[in-house]
Amino acid sequence: MDWSQLHQDCLNCQKCSLAVSRTNVVFGTGSPKAKIMFIGEGPGEQEDLQGEPFVGRAGQLLTDMLAMIDLSRQDIYITNIVKCRPPKNRDPLPEEQNACYPWLEEQIKLVDPKIIVCLGRIAAMRIIKPDFKITREHGQWFDEGGRKLMAIFHPSALLRDPRKRPETFEDLKAIESMMLTLN
Ligand code: URA
Repeated sequence: MDWSQLHQDCLNCQKCSLAVSRTNVVFGTGSPKAKIMFIGEGPGEQEDLQGEPFVGRAGQLLTDMLAMIDLSRQDIYITNIVKCRPPKNRDPLPEEQNACYPWLEEQIKLVDPKIIVCLGRIAAMRIIKPDFKITREHGQWFDEGGRKLMAIFHPSALLRDPRKRPETFEDLKAIESMMLTLN
């Protein structure tokens, strides 16, 4: 499948009940040729309204975090575990994640990033391992067939608890160093 076909099919998805309440499917943004992919949890209110990931307050913080390591939103690819907003921003249910996962699998296959950064616990449990503990294991590298995986705190968690920011800055520096080894 090619990228534009995948995108089009995803916009028409009816595979779970989130399709009923969504305004827009949030497929993802950035470069489909990116070496690094960021994966969040699911669209919030602003993302649902605008059809783009990470455009609300957490998204602004994410943009600032990327700037700290000289990355712009165009340099990376950003998407979410689920492409439609869960009502009232609740965690996506396992059945919603399962229904949506094939879209992400296909995105990962086509982008073929060298590094995947999970934003928060939900993405880390899906992408890295089911028992991932974000407080203990953020900033650690995991290897999957030559691809490097890391989770960092979700930007919303950093907005709620700014004390987590110094640790996240260290994690970002580790990502920057790993990026340098790719060039
Ligand atoms: N939080 C997420 O996990 N994803 C978004 O796209 C926005 C907020």
